[in-house]
Order: sequence, then C-alpha cells, then structure tokens
Amino acid sequence: MVVLAAGKGVRMNSRIPKVLHPVAGRPMLLWSMAAARELDPERTLVVTNPAQDGVRAALNGEAQMVPQSQQLGTGHALAQVSAAHRMPGPVVVLYADAPLLRGKTLKELVAEHKKTGADVTLLTARLDDPRGYGRIVRGRNGAFRDIVEEKDATTEQRAIAEVNTGVYVFSGRELWPALLKLENKNRSGEYYLTDVVRLIKGKVHTVPVEDSDEILGINDRRQLAQAERVMRQRILDGLMAGGVTITDPATTFIDPDVQVGRDTVIHPFSVITGESTIGEDCVIGPFAQIRDSVLGDSCRIERAHLEQATLASNVTVGPFSRLRPGSMLDEGVRVGTHAEIKNSHIGAGAAIAHFSAVLDSNVGAGANIGAGTVTANYDGVSKHRTEIGDRAQVGSDTILVAPVSVGHDAYTAAGSVITRDVPAGSLAIERSDQKIVEGWTARKRGRKSEVRKP
Ligand code: UD1
Ligand code: CA
Repeated sequence: MVVLAAGKGVRMNSRIPKVLHPVAGRPMLLWSMAAARELDPERTLVVTNPAQDGVRAALNGEAQMVPQSQQLGTGHALAQVSAAHRMPGPVVVLYADAPLLRGKTLKELVAEHKKTGADVTLLTARLDDPRGYGRIVRGRNGAFRDIVEEKDATTEQRAIAEVNTGVYVFSGRELWPALLKLENKNRSGEYYLTDVVRLIKGKVHTVPVEDSDEILGINDRRQLAQAERVMRQRILDGLMAGGVTITDPATTFIDPDVQVGRDTVIHPFSVITGESTIGEDCVIGPFAQIRDSVLGDSCRIERAHLEQATLASNVTVGPFSRLRPGSMLDEGVRVGTHAEIKNSHIGAGAAIAHFSAVLDSNVGAGANIGAGTVTANYDGVSKHRTEIGDRAQVGSDTILVAPVSVGHDAYTAAGSVITRDVPAGSLAIERSDQKIVEGWTARKRGRKSEVRKP
C-alpha cells in the first residue's frame, strides 16, 4: 500500500502542507490512513516531502515514510519507493488528498482485482462536473485505452464524464518495470502515474465507484469545504443511526471520534469536538460547545462552553457558563448562568447557580455556592486551592482568598472576604456592622424637598 502525500498543494495557497488540512477535525492524510488500515496491508508506505513540517508527527509512526524531495509528479512520487519494497504482489496506490474514500470501497476494489486477475484495477467515477480530473478514454468497444489529464485533453476528451479517481491496484510484477519507462512529455512536464496504466502491457480492469462523493480530490479550499460538508453529514448520519436525535444537521458539527449515547438530543448550533463522549438521554444545546469532555447520562447542557470537563450523570450547565480544563462535576451538580469553573471538583448535588468563579477548588457534596462567589486562587505569583466542605453554604458575594477552607456545614455571610479557615458547622462574617443614620435624607436635601411618603 502506497499513499502519495508529497505534493506541493499550490492551489491551497497555504503555509500548511495540504494533506495536514483537517477535514471534520482530522488531518486529511489520516482519513486516507484510516481507509488504508481497513485493508490490513502487509506494509504501508507514505511518500512525503521532507521539507514539509508536521507530516511525520501526524503519522505518529503508523507508516514508513518515503521521501520525495522534488515534486516531479505522481509517477515520480511512486518511483521513490526503494527496491526493497518493490514487491511482486498487489500494490494499492492512493492519493492523500481524497479523504472521503471508504475502506470498504478499497476492500471491494482489491477483491475485484484478485478475482479478475487484472494487471491494473482502476476505480473510476462518473461526474456531472468532471473538471480537474483525468479522463478515462475508451476505445470503440468500450475497452480502457488511456487516462488523459485535463491539461493535455482535447475538447472532445474534456467532455468525457468518466474520471480517474486516483485509486489503483497494480500487480507489482508489472508496475515496477513500467515505472522506469515513464516520461514527462506533457503540458505540466511531470511524470504522471496515470501514464503507467497505459505502459503496462496487461489487462486493465475498471470498477465504477458507487458513491461519487467518495472520490472528491481536494486541490483548493472550496473543495476542502465540500469534503467537510460530506464528512460531517456522514458522521451525523452514523450518530442518528445509533439513536441520537439531531434536530438540525445543517448547524450541528461533531467530530469523528465523538461518541453519543442513545436518545440524546442535540439542538442546533452545537459543536462537539475532539475526544468527547456523551451519555444517553442528554439534551445538548442550542449553542453548546463541547470539546474533549466526558458527560454521563441525562445531562442538560444549555448554551455553554465545556473543555476537558468530566460530568457525571444528571448534571445541568448553563446557559452562559464555562467549564475549563479539569472541571469534574459529580452526579446532579447544577451550574447555572455566568459561572466559570476550572481545575475543580464539585461534589454531588452541589449548586453554583449564578455568576461565580470557582477556580482550583474542591466543593463538597450538597454545598451551595451563592451568587457572586469568587475563589481568589492567584496571588500574582502562584495558584492556591480552596476547600469547601459538604453542605457548606457560601453566601452571596463571598471572596474566598486561597489557600483557605470552609468546613462541612459551615456558612459564610454574604459579602465576606474570607482569608482564614472556617471551622465545620460555624458561621464566618467578615464585614463591618451596619449603621443606620436616621433622617439623613431629609437633612441632605434640605427642608424644600421632603422625603416623599410612599
Ligand atoms: C490526479 C490524477 C488525476 C486524477 C486526480 C484524482 C495524475 C497525474 N493525475 O490529479 O488523473 O483524476 O488525481 O484526484 O496522477 N503528489 C506527490 N508528489 C508529486 C505530486 C503529487 O506525492 O510530485 C501527491 C499529492 O500530495 C496528492 C496526489 O499525489 O496527494 C495527487 O496529486 P495532485 O497534484 O493533487 O493530482 P491531481 O492534479 O489532482
Ligand atoms: Ca488532487
């Protein structure tokens, strides 16, 4: 199996290598690798451009890299495979800019290749708009004759709707000698892999692809967006088949590795990315953003932002709240509006119902965090933790200056700045006594305007 990924990608107009541009959150190249893996090949070689950064890291040791330092065409790319790898058996060749190709299609192509005993088996497609693709030229009897690149095609040939998808199975015995005969006498001055098909003096078999979306080759950002749309729809279709309700697929964006449980409902304008897992019977959105987070069953996430958060079951969040990395919410926690939580463990049944910042804290089970509570975690040099006990009642507008603790069943009075630990079961008040100045308003305004009686 050889994946060609060294191209310049000029039409992307990008500093990033084309094959690393993500489609549905995953680099294009890795979609090709996933399809390739389904074939369980003896070896997978990826032809890469050594000047392009990041490709090795993306591959993460999954395949052997074959360098192509000059980009002289797809045929030249394949010719970089060293003698040690030039096996006589079937060789599958793919282009890494076609992320929609399914492993299943590849498997069927290889099976067909073996069954027919062809020397080359080509996956072809009929497109309403074949522009940009190599055309399949056939003789009068319909037999395969050649692949002609658009640049080199006559007007007549350009009218052909059948195209080369860039997915090939070759007999290695025929392929490797034929590669040596390649020339670059064409409009681009490149060594075309497509010419090899003609140079092989054996049987060429063509297999039409069922779903022509699969062969979309991405050369520019318009096609990238097109692939994105198709891939997203596939992901959503898979989730819906698995029992997830998606009220508006057009405004719902879910990455391929996200798992969602049965009977969860996802409302419009929701984006769920990375390695997120959502349980059953949850209601997500509208306008929820969930990244790399794990949610139990029956959670309710309103318009909110979650990143690297872990939620048990029956947790409600939002609207307008933000859970930052390291937020762990136990069973039945209620987070309301304008709360920010970071690197904190919130015990079962605790409530953080209104605007608060709970940072680097442990909140006990059943505790109530009043509106406007802030755990002041940063002294300008280092971060400190706040400990709040079970069933503690933190009064509105309490500032807890960390490191500090509030014991089990303890109270803090509204408006207190707590700088010393509060023992269990006690009340901490930190504010000056209230004074009443009687008749103050009348004196201030003078006799002319008396205070209005209600
Ligand atoms: C190619 C085919 C065309 C087919 C189309 C399908 C050739 C000559 N043409 O055209 O018939 O219809 O794909 O999408 O093969 N690459 C290298 N080294 C190079 C050049 C390219 O590794 O020197 C890699 C690219 O990274 C890319 C793939 O080969 O993944 C295809 O190259 P690209 O330039 O996109 O070919 P197309 O013009 O799309
Ligand atoms: Ca291409």
